[in-house]
Amino acid sequence: MINGELKIDSPIRWAMVGGGRGSQIGYIHRSAALRDNSFQLVAGVFDIDPARGRDFGVGLQVDPQRCYADYQTLFDAEASRPDGIQAVSIATPNGTHFAICKAALEAGLHVVCEKPLCFTVAEAEELRALAEEKGRLVGVTYGYAGHQLIRQARAMIANGELGEIRIVNMQFAHGFHSEAVEEANPSAKWRVDPRFAGPSYVLGDLGTHPLYLCEVMLPELKIRRLMCSRQSFVKSRAPLEDNAYVVMEYEGGAIGTLWASAVNAGSMHGQKIRVVGSKASLEWWDEQPNQLRYEVQGRPAQVLERGMDYLHPDALEDDRIGGGHPEGLFEAWSNLYYRFALAMEAMDKGDRTMARTLGIPDIDAGCEGVRWVENCVRSAALGAAWIDYA
Ligand SMILES: NC(=O)c1ccc[n+]([C@@H]2O[C@H](COP(=O)([O-])OP(=O)(O)OC[C@H]3O[C@@H](n4cnc5c(N)ncnc54)[C@H](O)[C@@H]3O)[C@@H](O)[C@H]2O)c1
Repeated sequence: MINGELKIDSPIRWAMVGGGRGSQIGYIHRSAALRDNSFQLVAGVFDIDPARGRDFGVGLQVDPQRCYADYQTLFDAEASRPDGIQAVSIATPNGTHFAICKAALEAGLHVVCEKPLCFTVAEAEELRALAEEKGRLVGVTYGYAGHQLIRQARAMIANGELGEIRIVNMQFAHGFHSEAVEEANPSAKWRVDPRFAGPSYVLGDLGTHPLYLCEVMLPELKIRRLMCSRQSFVKSRAPLEDNAYVVMEYEGGAIGTLWASAVNAGSMHGQKIRVVGSKASLEWWDEQPNQLRYEVQGRPAQVLERGMDYLHPDALEDDRIGGGHPEGLFEAWSNLYYRFALAMEAMDKGDRTMARTLGIPDIDAGCEGVRWVENCVRSAALGAAWIDYA
């Protein structure tokens, strides 16, 4: 159970790049990192506009001297302080992640980076090598991966409760961009511009989320080949897609599908994963995150509720309030962040294995998301051809 007691020796001195006033994702980073006292927000470059960023930082109680104009100045100035930052979170548009993450690692910092980690596998591998050389953590915020019922699903699958895994259906298909909202919304605008978003829109922005949930639940499942078809229903978004289907064949014979869409009109979030085995299936939906459906062939379906004693110990470890009260995205992120802190502290003490033991989305998860997008884009460019997963 989590009750706010510090799980590391002392809070990690932490900064943010991006996540400023009006940003979509900045607040949840702060809420998650600060909730259990594992991190202390002491510096930042919160905005592309330095004056607005400083003003915002001051509002967050950050010392104005430590609200910097750009990320390189942040890293240089903090390195010269005895109480300088130990970690940084990057919550800027996709096109900046690679350069900022690289500079942070070169400055010897632990990093939490938004997804997609970067644009190409070559860049991702460069970051992986640098993180390894420096012995630093790179965490990637696939937020719902920290939800207790995702851990429950992983434990049940590992226990063989579904039998042999045959099918995985994944989707993240919302309807918020059914029209060209980007014309009036800066947060949507960069997402449909390849210079800032990278080689894909919904595949990277949305599809990588359930892809990672699948990696958590089924760590042994490896893609053998895939095919991807992508569309730009709002024509001005081309060459980037606002809808995509991916079919994946896994080693060992299982098959998976992933639907990523921003034009699923009427849908709120629509992030779901259904894992079908030879005996039973599990289904989880982010709009009802406290319930996990367990359907055994020939028996009435069961709804497993978060926080109940019948769950696996792994799923109860992060309970904060007990069953019956909802815990959702904010708690899931907090669970990731306190584990990021545990992993950072362990690495500082020379233990590089902790990150893997904790099962957090780290540099490997970041690299895999980029690799998957690259493969999907390659297949789509060949006319939705089946391609070997490279
Ligand atoms: N993990 C998730 O669930 C999730 C959800 C939404 C967004 N994201 C990711 O988070 C990132 C940010 O998305 P968003 O929707 O918050 O974007 P946004 O456009 O709403 O906000 C971006 C913020 O970054 C600042 N910024 C831009 N360039 C900067 C720079 N060079 N230095 C400092 N600040 C800079 C902007 O001023 C703004 O405050 C993206 O990579 C996106 O894919 C992840």
